[in-house]
Amino acid sequence: MSAMTQTAKVRILPESLINKIAAGEVVERPASVVKELVENSLDAGADQILVTLKNGGKDLISVLDNGSGMNETDAHHALERHATSKISEEEDLFRIHTLGFRGEALAAISSVSRLELTTCSDESKGAVKLRLNGGVLEHQGKTGFPQGTKISVEQLFFNTPARLKFMKSTATELQHIQQLMQRLAMAAPEVQFRLTHNQQMLLKLPYATDQEERIQQLFGEEVRDGLMKVQHQANQLSFEGWISLPSKTKSSRRLQYLFVNGRHVKCPALNHGIYDGYHGLLAKGKHPAFFIKVKVATEDVDVNVHPAKTEIRFRNSQLVHTILADQLSRQIHETSGKRFFGREVGHSPFPSRPDQTEFSLPDSLPLEESLPKAGLGKIPTGDVRQKDLTGFPKIPVSPAPTVSTKKVSSPQIGSSFQISGSLPSMETTSSPIDGGENPDLDVPEELELFLTLPAKPENFRIIGMLHHRQILMEHAEGLAVADTHNIHKALIESLLAKTVEENSVRLREQEVPLLLEMKAQDALILELHQKLLKQSGFQLDSFGGTTFSISTFPFPLPKEKCENVFKDFISRVSAFGKRAHDAEIRKDLIQCIALHAAFDNGSSLNLRALNLLIAQMEQLELPPLKVEGERLWFMIPQEEIFKRLKD
Ligand SMILES: Nc1ncnc2c1ncn2[C@@H]1O[C@H](COP(=O)(O)OP(=O)(O)OP(=O)(O)O)[C@@H](O)[C@H]1O
Ligand SMILES: [Mg+2]
Repeated sequence: MSAMTQTAKVRILPESLINKIAAGEVVERPASVVKELVENSLDAGADQILVTLKNGGKDLISVLDNGSGMNETDAHHALERHATSKISEEEDLFRIHTLGFRGEALAAISSVSRLELTTCSDESKGAVKLRLNGGVLEHQGKTGFPQGTKISVEQLFFNTPARLKFMKSTATELQHIQQLMQRLAMAAPEVQFRLTHNQQMLLKLPYATDQEERIQQLFGEEVRDGLMKVQHQANQLSFEGWISLPSKTKSSRRLQYLFVNGRHVKCPALNHGIYDGYHGLLAKGKHPAFFIKVKVATEDVDVNVHPAKTEIRFRNSQLVHTILADQLSRQIHETSGKRFFGREVGHSPFPSRPDQTEFSLPDSLPLEESLPKAGLGKIPTGDVRQKDLTGFPKIPVSPAPTVSTKKVSSPQIGSSFQISGSLPSMETTSSPIDGGENPDLDVPEELELFLTLPAKPENFRIIGMLHHRQILMEHAEGLAVADTHNIHKALIESLLAKTVEENSVRLREQEVPLLLEMKAQDALILELHQKLLKQSGFQLDSFGGTTFSISTFPFPLPKEKCENVFKDFISRVSAFGKRAHDAEIRKDLIQCIALHAAFDNGSSLNLRALNLLIAQMEQLELPPLKVEGERLWFMIPQEEIFKRLKD
């Protein structure tokens, strides 16, 4: 059979289909469109960029800039596939100084949306406006428009139903865009950014003189104050930036920003280099925050690894890793040394500047000023409790009590024994414990978690307290030492795990709701998990902008700790992003609540209260060593004590 008579199975695809396939790689979600458009604006030299969104970018993404703009011919070319002004020959691939270079982003985006491009490179010649529907030119004309470019993308994925289905909720898509905007804004402090969503201003960043000022604008003073400056100049690799002081590392990887030649990248070699720089100074589970800009010769790095352009490959990644690790290690140790001698070296203080420069880009949307700058949120708390941390009155210090003789049984060893005589409480720096048997003495309600349980432990007899924190107890086998905070925390965790599951969380109600003002991206995370928060006892309602009112919260959390719970929770969930399962997120939230609801120590607890605490631990059979590696209590066997006394 001749080749001509066979039915052809292999066909050259039409251009429109090729574009859609390519779009699959470049345009994953609304945030990818924002990324490509804003990167184009930065490449065009813009120093003012306004991003406008509707419904998480699903209905509209518009990016307006004051960059170079395009003339009519270039505007048409820009929407063609493989059309770029940024490279022209093969060698250029190894001297890339721009964020874009593949010449495919606009073609890809336009093939899966309704796109309108308005651009002007010379005001005397006017602006050109092009409108495309699914990549097909529908309209072209002239219009009045200042120098710069505006690209509006409506109804993303309207012609690719499979993709459309993959889009997540408005809040999720918006969260991705906000995280992306933070990365872009960190990469270019000298550029003003604004982000509005459904006519609400979410981000308003004036020009920043440097990276430090941009960090402060985006993340607030508290974050900036926990950082130290690092820098290095050499031929193979230069870098500058800000990293956590060793004493201020975080429990999440949220604040980690890495840029190579101006591009935000994910790069394991650099990441490891930074962690290695902290060797010995990073506690388990701790992570540094970092904002580092690396510069390398363009021929030493390949950015053409993936269409999204965030992966890179170094010609010699081992060298890059070593330089970064060695340099950071030296600078971290120098800084730690100076701190030891009492000098403040974390940052050079600079006055926070007022929002001095006006944003001059035109736009039809009213630019609401309702939100404060990110990171400066402070909470009007109304009637904040003025008592000590535990929120209940302190038991006055009284002389060492006499505890009556009691029978302590030990089922494990199948015997019981008598403690004869009276046991004085420990002579320590702490107050002696009070009121063993006195039923009139106060037991804080925060301790009454499992009401059906007995008020006294069966196998332990409390004999004293060590430094307000550890409970010393006599047990048939020896001396048991228990940690007040850890036990209280574990009890609260068990209680919540049960009641959250059953939708029966005991609530604390606020007559005057607590108001909490969040950073925009944090507010989003809370919104995203509103159902879980509700189930866990938090009645959270929007109070305009990114302020929430909280009218109920879970028992036994004190009101003034609500904010800390949210902060911890946000930092945990953003570290794991959407990959975490619902059950894990729920566990995280419960742990955060328990952590802040638990007494910091036992200084205000009398003997009755301590008995109740230990009884609940015993009855619930909480393991001495929890899965997370935290110990609730341990035993020093009596033989061990005898042995020590003989040594
Ligand atoms: N905001 C803008 N201002 C001025 N020119 C622009 C703007 N956006 C795009 N262009 C022009 O359109 C061209 C095509 O843009 P497109 O994003 O499709 O490709 P690219 O940026 O060259 O490469 P990549 O696909 O990697 O982003 C650019 O090379 C640039 O010349
Ligand atoms: Mg581009």
